[in-house]
Amino acid sequence: MKQKILVTGGAGFIGSNFCNIHREKYDIVALDNLFLGTPENLNPEITFIKGDACRMSDLQKCGDHFDFILHLAGTSSAPMFTDEKLSEAYRNSVESFTTMCQFALKCGARKILFASTSSLYGNNPMPLVETQEVVPPNHYSVTKFLYEHCARCFQSTHKELDIIGFRFMSVYGPNEEAKGQYANMISQFVWDIAREKKPVIFGDGNQFRDFTNVADIVRGITLAMETEKKLGAEIFNIGTGATCSFNEIIDQVNVAMGKSVEPIYIENPVKETYVRGQHADISKISNVLGFKPTVSLSDGIRAQVDNLDISRIRETSSDLFREK
Ligand SMILES: NC(=O)c1ccc[n+]([C@@H]2O[C@H](COP(=O)([O-])OP(=O)(O)OC[C@H]3O[C@@H](n4cnc5c(N)ncnc54)[C@H](O)[C@@H]3O)[C@@H](O)[C@H]2O)c1
Repeated sequence: MKQKILVTGGAGFIGSNFCNIHREKYDIVALDNLFLGTPENLNPEITFIKGDACRMSDLQKCGDHFDFILHLAGTSSAPMFTDEKLSEAYRNSVESFTTMCQFALKCGARKILFASTSSLYGNNPMPLVETQEVVPPNHYSVTKFLYEHCARCFQSTHKELDIIGFRFMSVYGPNEEAKGQYANMISQFVWDIAREKKPVIFGDGNQFRDFTNVADIVRGITLAMETEKKLGAEIFNIGTGATCSFNEIIDQVNVAMGKSVEPIYIENPVKETYVRGQHADISKISNVLGFKPTVSLSDGIRAQVDNLDISRIRETSSDLFREK
């Protein structure tokens, strides 16, 4: 019998990639309220349930036994925490996490795996390492910090359960179209340049990120899920340990598309909480789980370009700023 995995947020970007990669090896149910995700992201053979991870009755509709739960639902990026939607954004993240933990006990899950974020590090000294003190710089990362602490408390009273959090670096790859303006900058630059629209860059374009292909994110999660090691309530960075600036990404996308679209540089509206650089230390996940990133940035960008479906592209953040 195949082991069963429930993926909350399963029709979203990372969730759908995880489900599609594992659909033959595992029995997977993807739960999503379609706030941002779309069932189009999922292979039709995957069981999809439309429902809300904040609601126990919707989680119970997914099944009465799971070996693993991957929790990716929640309010998935900082710009969604607007003043007008602040309570709703917090409620969605916090309530989905705590309800999912209660469901894990009912369905006999052995492990919970959940998305935290590298945004927690803010502008900490690099390379960013799990042992650093963090002061979450925005509401989004506050919710993820809460997940990490909630996981630690929950695991301390349910020692049979492992609850493992991942601080994903900047994730890019297929199935980001539904995220539109919230998608990774690599995808958004590809969509802008494909439409001959100038990408808008905050500042001088020298800001850099540890861009990580979603296939490597799935690989990191899978290693933690499949290991026989008892992990308790561990937190792992998942990244590549390498960096690239926005200017270099624009150059690489232009080369991959045979174009020469120049960006527009604007004054950075985000000011002091803006993350200038991101460079992960991945020694913990490498040493404990044997993780190694496998997709080079140039191959990842090439795949984005080769698999581009212009009909699926929505508004990008550059569209919003170009119009101002
Ligand atoms: N993409 C990144 O670079 C990145 C980096 C760090 C952390 N993360 C985290 O990883 C997780 C997945 O990110 P993603 O990029 O795939 O985002 P995403 O928005 O594509 O996926 C989240 C999915 O959850 C669904 N959802 C939201 N609230 C829900 C609820 N209450 N019940 C059921 N479904 C719900 C959305 O419709 C969406 O499909 C998120 O928690 C995000 O914060 C992402």
